[in-house]
Amino acid sequence: MKDVLKELERRREIARMGGGQARIDAQHKKGKLTARERIDVFLDEGSFEEFDMYVEHRSTDFGMEKTKIAGDGVVTGWGTVNGRPVYLFAKDFTVFGGSLSEAHAEKVVKVQEMALRNRAPIIGLYDAGGARIQEGVAALGGYAEIFQRNVLASGVIPQISLIMGPCAGGDVYSPAMTDFIFMVRDTSYMFVTGPDVVKTVTNETVTAESLGGASVHTTKSSIADGAYDNDVEALLQMRRLVDLLPASNTAEIPEIECYQSVTDHDLSLDRLIPDNANKPYDIKELILKVADEGDFFEIQQNFAKNIVTGFGRIEGRSVGFVANQPMVLAGVLDSDASRKAARFVRFCDCFSIPIVTFVDVAGVQPRPAPGLGVFNKTPPPSRGLGWVGGLWGNKNWGGGGGGG
Ligand code: HXC
Repeated sequence: MKDVLKELERRREIARMGGGQARIDAQHKKGKLTARERIDVFLDEGSFEEFDMYVEHRSTDFGMEKTKIAGDGVVTGWGTVNGRPVYLFAKDFTVFGGSLSEAHAEKVVKVQEMALRNRAPIIGLYDAGGARIQEGVAALGGYAEIFQRNVLASGVIPQISLIMGPCAGGDVYSPAMTDFIFMVRDTSYMFVTGPDVVKTVTNETVTAESLGGASVHTTKSSIADGAYDNDVEALLQMRRLVDLLPASNTAEIPEIECYQSVTDHDLSLDRLIPDNANKPYDIKELILKVADEGDFFEIQQNFAKNIVTGFGRIEGRSVGFVANQPMVLAGVLDSDASRKAARFVRFCDCFSIPIVTFVDVAGVQPRPAPGLGVFNKTPPPSRGLGWVGGLWGNKNWGGGGGGG
């Protein structure tokens, strides 16, 4: 019996080493944690229960039968965040670049199904190069199974993706189907394929950052909902987000003790909105004063800044905030802002999260029609007027805002 336990511990030790010390060192050198270190930071201490630690791929092509690594590039299991259960999988870049084999896909599908069955959030920590090239169609089939579970879980349990390395192909398409995507600045990328393959196929030289860095996806494509400076910060912020979300579409809204009296008067609110309708003010100041303890988790902070979305709590219960931002484009509603808000409201609706809306909008921005100068030269108006025709007087574009 003792020998069996010893052998088990030996095999565990090997599995914990993933692709080996040299690759772990390379991962650290790039400023990234390993899959297991990330799980340790994200979950409550000692709460992680791992599944399928010894799973290996079944491929025999391209000499793959000679390189089998326990776990096959993904660590899966469940644990708790501040006592609440979550399911998760963390791609291990030290094993075949975290790429997805048929066996690897089966591990991910298993936790997806367990999360759905037990109605708990699922979190994916991504650091992976997509379909394992050596497995071809078998790997693509694995993604089909994962995508289907993404669809089945949509609107039923929160699905959160954290992009923590160079991610390509299916390791970008699956996150794109989840509710929230966050990235790590300067070490994480989301693209169909990496710069080297782009160079080979199109002869175009592009940097990883311009192809799919956090700066692109948080400001232009709006694929990502936010970015953080390093792995630890990103993981701790994900704990904060999980804390704010219900476990499923049938679960209660999370409630924590509130230490702020609801009857306290904040007199500074009386002076927040300027008397002059052309003077902008920061709506985030209002949100911070309304949310419990000024705790506001903003979603898409750097995209369509003319509308503000995010989560906070009122009297200890989670709410979603949606607010026009008079500081940016006078808070006018354009297509980016509308899509950003609609997406956020849809999530809140699915999970029955109450929404607090602060409306202070100059109106709707018409799409500038090429050649129609009138649309291009008219800025939005002062507060209380709807700007739908592009025919207003000459007010200050950067100012305005207010009680519309
Ligand atoms: C097998 C892979 C791999 C993959 C990386 N590796 N991606 N192995 N299949 N898809 C391996 C590398 O060979 C290398 O192994 C190790 O992982 C680290 O990769 P590097 O290239 O050295 O790292 P880096 O320079 O940081 O670049 C990372 C990368 C790049 C940007 C992800 O590896 C890359 O572009 N990979 C290919 C991406 C791709 O085209 N994937 C397929 C997408 S198609 P060694 O042994 O040398 O350390 C797809 C289809 C989905 O996913 C469709 C669903 C229906």
